Amino acid sequence: MNMKLLSSQGSIQEFDADLVIVNLFENTEKPGGATGAVDRALGGAISDLISVGDFTGKRLSTAVLYTRGAIKAPRVLIVGLGDKDKFDLQTAREVAATAAVRARDLDVRRVASIVHGGGTGNLDYADAAQATAEGTLLGLYRFDANKREKSEDERRELESVTLVEFEGSRMATLGKAIARAQAIARGVFLTRDLVNQPANIASPEYLASVATHLAEKYDSVSISVYGREEMEQMGMGAFLSVAQGSYDPPRFVVMEYHGAPEGEAPVVVAGKGITFDTGGISIKPSQEMWRMKTDMGGAAVVLGVVEAAAGLALPVNLVGLVGATYNMPDGKAYRPSDVVRAMNGKTIEVISTDAEGRMVLADLLSYASKNYEPKAVVDLATLTGGCVVALGKEIAGLFTEKDDLAGGLEQAARAVSEPVWRMPMYDEYKELIKSDFADVKNSGGRWASAITAALFLREFAEGIPWAHLDIAGPVWRDSSAPLMPKGATGFGVRLLVNFLENNS
Ligand code: BES
Ligand code: MN
Ligand code: ZN
Repeated sequence: MNMKLLSSQGSIQEFDADLVIVNLFENTEKPGGATGAVDRALGGAISDLISVGDFTGKRLSTAVLYTRGAIKAPRVLIVGLGDKDKFDLQTAREVAATAAVRARDLDVRRVASIVHGGGTGNLDYADAAQATAEGTLLGLYRFDANKREKSEDERRELESVTLVEFEGSRMATLGKAIARAQAIARGVFLTRDLVNQPANIASPEYLASVATHLAEKYDSVSISVYGREEMEQMGMGAFLSVAQGSYDPPRFVVMEYHGAPEGEAPVVVAGKGITFDTGGISIKPSQEMWRMKTDMGGAAVVLGVVEAAAGLALPVNLVGLVGATYNMPDGKAYRPSDVVRAMNGKTIEVISTDAEGRMVLADLLSYASKNYEPKAVVDLATLTGGCVVALGKEIAGLFTEKDDLAGGLEQAARAVSEPVWRMPMYDEYKELIKSDFADVKNSGGRWASAITAALFLREFAEGIPWAHLDIAGPVWRDSSAPLMPKGATGFGVRLLVNFLENNS
């Protein structure tokens, strides 16, 4: 995104812009604060709008007023904050996003806005400022990397959004909040871009090259990229079995972000990076198969989190593991009935080649427990359709036996409004993945498939505090929302960044 996000001290009604954004709580009779100041400068135009009933301040509603020379800006956009008692950070984010998108639709260049919730509200100013900045950026995201012909709508772009603050004492806080929001948005956008890219572009090699670029960009990030041979030497027989069916080679990427002293235990995030999941020999139906380009969503979150953590210079040590491969049917492809050996020595009977994500994660988790003594290991994976059936498209499944880790992730999820729901690690269902021919089998069948998948992963997360997030639902949206257009959501990046901040 080329748009600049800036800050300025002064009165919004005096700011020189093409459009200024102010706000109103629902059922306010007389606007106060900055909105009141604009209203007075306009001779009561906002009050009129309210009294005739054309604007009530309903959450995310908007109205445009033309100022006819009364202030420098020719237009005022007023956005509804909804019920004052229900106002929260998510509302601030969504209000900012809605207003920014509306401004872009009007095809203006320079926008000025107040900080939503920065005045009287019940929010901390730094949080409100960050939410306003973050919402503005997230809402304006678009993915058009592969379009040569763009419509007029698609070509519109704001030049700048300036957050205007009257109190001089708040400017440093505002500046920091904007910088933080930019670093976080950069991570979310990287994740969204990778997931939106088609399977022929976002290959394992491509994911590895993006990771390499991150390591070049940030001194604090180091990287190792492994191919088939090295993975064989490491004993990653589960991951490699999935990869053997494709012409394009797999990539195992280890990124280390050093933001804390050497001796401090890292947090490990591991991502499923199936760059396209055909199902393999257990092939998927062709209808909607294109969606399986999103099957590297977990890996994309890992890259986004590393980008954001490094950009924020978070005082933590972070390890990002990416297991990237296609899952293809082929003469060399693995088959149902195959028995393979994972890095931790356990043997796996392949029941379905479509249960491939857990094969890759088995070796990533084995690698994490062999090579680190982490504070926590969190894997992210578009792992099961069953999780989408259970929780729908907006909520991720959270699986862990560690209550404190569950609590930490739930707290982070609430703070950023990326909802998770804890699912049971129901030990009795271990029966369902018992194999006659190996230590474990890779599918427990149809029922409770999200749970049996998590129980399978547990076999490889030996001796580490581990949690699993099944993001098969929230990785993608079929309709737009205030903070994102339809398509890749970047779900998980803000959650994990918040989690890391709380663990530093
Ligand atoms: N990538 C899929 C899961 C998926 C399904 C993600 C729908 C998003 C939307 C995964 O690899 C898969 O195929 N899982 C199977 C597991 C089964 C074979 C045990 C599933 O969920 O059906
Ligand atoms: Mn699959
Ligand atoms: Zn998959």
